[in-house]
Amino acid sequence: MSSFLSDSTPSLISPWTDLRPDHPCLSVGVLASGAGSNFTALARAIQEGRLQACLRVVVYNQATAGVAQRARDEQVPAVFIDHRRFPEREPLDAMIVDTLRKHQVEWVVMAGWMRVVTPVLIDAFAGRIINIHPSLLPSFPGLRAVEQALAAGVKISGCTVHHVSPEVDRGPIICQAAVPVLDQDTPSSLHERIQVQEHRILPLALSMAARLAVSSTQPPAAH
Ligand code: GRF
Repeated sequence: MSSFLSDSTPSLISPWTDLRPDHPCLSVGVLASGAGSNFTALARAIQEGRLQACLRVVVYNQATAGVAQRARDEQVPAVFIDHRRFPEREPLDAMIVDTLRKHQVEWVVMAGWMRVVTPVLIDAFAGRIINIHPSLLPSFPGLRAVEQALAAGVKISGCTVHHVSPEVDRGPIICQAAVPVLDQDTPSSLHERIQVQEHRILPLALSMAARLAVSSTQPPAAH
């Protein structure tokens, strides 16, 4: 399957669980700072059988973040970690790693996590930490990606799910989807259109990445 998704791309790929029938639930932790619509997209994909995973915990860093209520709605523990208590990034990431491990998390999804992460977190979940970004990377990394795309006058934008590396928004791309940019678009109208695609590709990308990770560690089948 191509990792560029068109509207006709099926929203279910072969589940990774056929490779690991002994391990039917991918343990997922979500890091989020905002509204949490991508968290809900993961929860819906699990409920609808499009993603074989269990959401173990949500870590959030803004006391008023909507994701906390969404987590409660889905009966997923939500842990508030105030980044302002940590003058350095590494101790914050160490606390996050600790929290994720306490909740038996194997895969981490940064779904609107508005903090730069360090190798303390990246190495603890090496190859198992992904991020969603509202542009077609490598264009428009960093903050205000939707505004950057509008200012550049591009006619197509979209979203990207990628592995997390120390360089912000530069890790290997797992999956992308495109949306048209319309003449009358504002940042919020374009972001809204992008988010429809984010909610589609995030569960798919997680499933694809997990499947690839599991298959690369499987011994060759005996004949
Ligand atoms: C998404 O657009 C994501 O790409 C960006 O932050 C936004 C989070 O949205 N990194 P939500 O909180 O999941 O609704």
